[in-house]
Amino acid sequence: MATLRIKFRPLPAASFAGLAGFILLASCLGYGQAVNSCLDCHSAQPGRLEVTPEKFSQDIHAQKGLTCVSCHGGDATSYDPDQAMSRKAGWKGKVDRRQIPQLCGSCHSNPAYIRQFDPSLRTDQLDQYHTSVHGKRLAAGDAKVAVCIDCHSVHDIRPPSDPRSTVNPVNVAKTCSRCHSDAAYMKQYGIPTDQFAKYNISVHHDAMVVRGDLSAPTCTTCHGNHGAAPPGVDKVQNVCANCHAFQAQMYEKSTHYKAFQAASLPGCVVCHSNHGIHLPSDAMLGTGPGGVCMKCHAPGDRCDRARVAILSNLTQLDGAIKDADQALHLAESSGMEVSEARLAQDQARDSLTKARVTIHTFQPTLVDQDVQAGMKIAAANLKAGKDAMVERNHRRIGLGICFIAIAMMLIGLWLYIRKLES
Ligand code: HEC
Ligand code: HEC
Ligand code: HEC
Ligand code: HEC
Ligand code: HEC
Ligand code: HEC
Ligand code: HEC
Ligand code: HEC
Ligand code: HEC
Repeated sequence: MATLRIKFRPLPAASFAGLAGFILLASCLGYGQAVNSCLDCHSAQPGRLEVTPEKFSQDIHAQKGLTCVSCHGGDATSYDPDQAMSRKAGWKGKVDRRQIPQLCGSCHSNPAYIRQFDPSLRTDQLDQYHTSVHGKRLAAGDAKVAVCIDCHSVHDIRPPSDPRSTVNPVNVAKTCSRCHSDAAYMKQYGIPTDQFAKYNISVHHDAMVVRGDLSAPTCTTCHGNHGAAPPGVDKVQNVCANCHAFQAQMYEKSTHYKAFQAASLPGCVVCHSNHGIHLPSDAMLGTGPGGVCMKCHAPGDRCDRARVAILSNLTQLDGAIKDADQALHLAESSGMEVSEARLAQDQARDSLTKARVTIHTFQPTLVDQDVQAGMKIAAANLKAGKDAMVERNHRRIGLGICFIAIAMMLIGLWLYIRKLES
């Protein structure tokens, strides 16, 4: 009932003139078009009150025909601020951060409403958000967590598919890092603030941002867009299996799986980490700085012996492939034809890749099976390279003998001609 009194900031004369001009211009432009006093007036407002047509026209809501009033309420036909922004006209007042999820959800959780625009658009964002750490903490009164507009921006909200959207997969990590890399902002929570820095140099960032492989994960692929975890994943640490199915299948049958579960250790993350995942190498199986096994196993025990066996197996195949490569290269540069063996080298390399996946059984005999398959091919290719060189030597010798024979024949001919002449 009570009418709200807007405390009007005293505007300098120039602003009034500007405003009057703007209103005049706006009414000319608005001829035959719905007026939007909110946009007209706010595009001339200073600082955080400014909302320009340039910005708002980028917003999916404006593009779908929604206006300021759709979210804020009020009377967009009136240029009198007391009338335009009156509670009587439905104006909701200053938007409190804590109310934002409810505001967005008032449309986005309404399937009947959303269906009119896009039947395929999900309507579970608010429900999901309530299950996330952000949503739970907000409900408990902490307004520092992310609300809808911290991830989506406001007044220029774009669909995620737009490359300029703050939630486009390529931009998500930067959006999260605004808070999560800000040590001062996050101080009171006592959690690490290195997720972005580590992710930024990981294989996943490299795949997505550098090589444009959108099947690689960014923050929200693992943590969920709105919920505590992505759909179908009970714990974030189990998300790796969604994409690395072969490794996961083997790992889940291993002794480690049961042992790690019993000790509440985070599976793949124990050896690969979560944010700073790097390209694995045989060093992970070693005892040097990159080694992961000796954090838990003791030198000489059963598991350490298994580690040594696996490592030496891999090193052996790696060496055999390199030797064969070298022999084939030498043969090729001597002009010999070894393209078949060259192709077969790919099979040997595939065996090595397979063996590195089979590692996740942590059983040397199984890794050995893949390695032996590769060793056989590599040995055959090495032989092909060496045979080619032997063949080349034979040809050289043959060529030499021919050369000598021709030379001797020519000398004989020459002697014979000399004899005839004399
Ligand atoms: C003639 C100019 C004018 C018109 C028309 C106008 N506003 Fe405002 N609006 C203002 C000014 C000035 C303020 C700042 C008031 C204050 O600080 O007390 C304001 C404040 C607001 C705020 C609160 C900002 C905050 O967080 O403190 C919102 C939201 C808002 N306007 C939305 C609207 C909407 C929606 C409409 C149209 C229905 C509209 N305005 C029409 C000038 C206008
Ligand atoms: C999709 C919903 C939505 C639409 C459409 C929308 N707004 Fe807002 N607006 C918000 C939200 C949410 C906030 C709160 C932002 C914050 O707390 O930083 C806000 C904040 C504001 C503010 C205050 C800014 C501040 O920092 O306090 C003004 C002024 C405003 N809007 C004006 C407008 C005008 C004018 C339009 C139309 C051109 C408009 N809004 C359209 C959702 C919307
Ligand atoms: C008045 C109803 C309404 C409100 C309030 C509202 N939206 Fe929307 N929103 C829509 C409609 C309608 C669409 C267009 C759906 C379509 O056709 O893609 C949309 C689209 C979107 C999209 C793009 C979806 C896509 O993939 O196409 C995002 C993101 C979005 N809204 C976020 C928000 C956020 C964040 C808020 C709160 C600040 C909000 N919306 C408030 C009605 C609303
Ligand atoms: C922590 C960041 C974050 C918050 C908070 C957040 N979103 Fe999103 N939202 C995303 C991301 C990331 C996507 C993009 C998903 C994709 O790539 O398709 C998205 C997508 C959407 C979409 C497009 C349809 C869909 O579900 O994929 C809508 C609509 C949407 N969000 C609305 C909301 C609303 C409403 C809220 C508040 C209740 C909200 N979002 C809060 C990050 C967030
Ligand atoms: C507006 C700042 C802000 C933004 C933006 C933001 N967050 Fe948060 N986030 C927080 C705060 C504050 C917490 C609460 C810290 C706590 O107590 O765990 C939090 C908590 C979390 C947690 C739970 C951490 C834990 O305690 O286990 C995850 C996961 C998370 N955020 C992921 C994300 C992702 C992913 C994005 C980007 C899509 C994002 N956040 C964007 C502020 C933000
Ligand atoms: C490959 C999956 C993956 C990606 C990508 C990822 N995270 Fe995580 N994140 C995890 C896992 C797993 C945990 C451990 C959580 C657990 O055990 O429940 C975690 C933990 C966290 C935590 C809790 C605090 C901590 O560091 O342990 C925050 C906050 C967080 N991640 C934010 C982010 C942000 C921000 C990004 C993007 C820059 C990101 N994450 C990218 C998988 C991922
Ligand atoms: C959304 C799918 C997805 C998720 C989830 C995911 N990854 Fe990846 N991962 C990829 C893609 C794509 C690559 C790049 C492969 C390439 O280089 O071709 C990759 C690369 C890797 C690599 C380097 C392997 C190589 O040969 O390049 C490792 C190790 C890895 N991921 C481990 C993990 C771990 C551990 C997790 C869980 C914490 C995880 N990934 C979650 C998709 C995913
Ligand atoms: C006990 C440690 C350990 C655990 C647990 C573990 N890995 Fe690995 N992972 C390794 C080692 C060691 C290598 C290979 C190092 C090498 O190249 O010789 C590797 C290699 C990889 C590779 C690269 C394989 C390739 O093609 O070169 C991927 C991808 C991978 N792991 C994903 C995972 C996933 C997903 C999980 C969980 C399901 C997981 N790992 C669990 C130790 C582990
Ligand atoms: C986080 C601690 C941890 C790490 C890291 C770890 N292990 Fe284990 N490993 C265990 C536990 C616990 C068991 C089960 C108890 C046991 O058999 O000793 C186990 C069991 C094993 C077994 C016996 C498997 C069986 O089926 O009998 C082998 C082999 C093994 N680990 C090798 C490795 C190798 C190789 C690495 C490095 C790539 C590694 N472990 C890294 C903790 C770890």
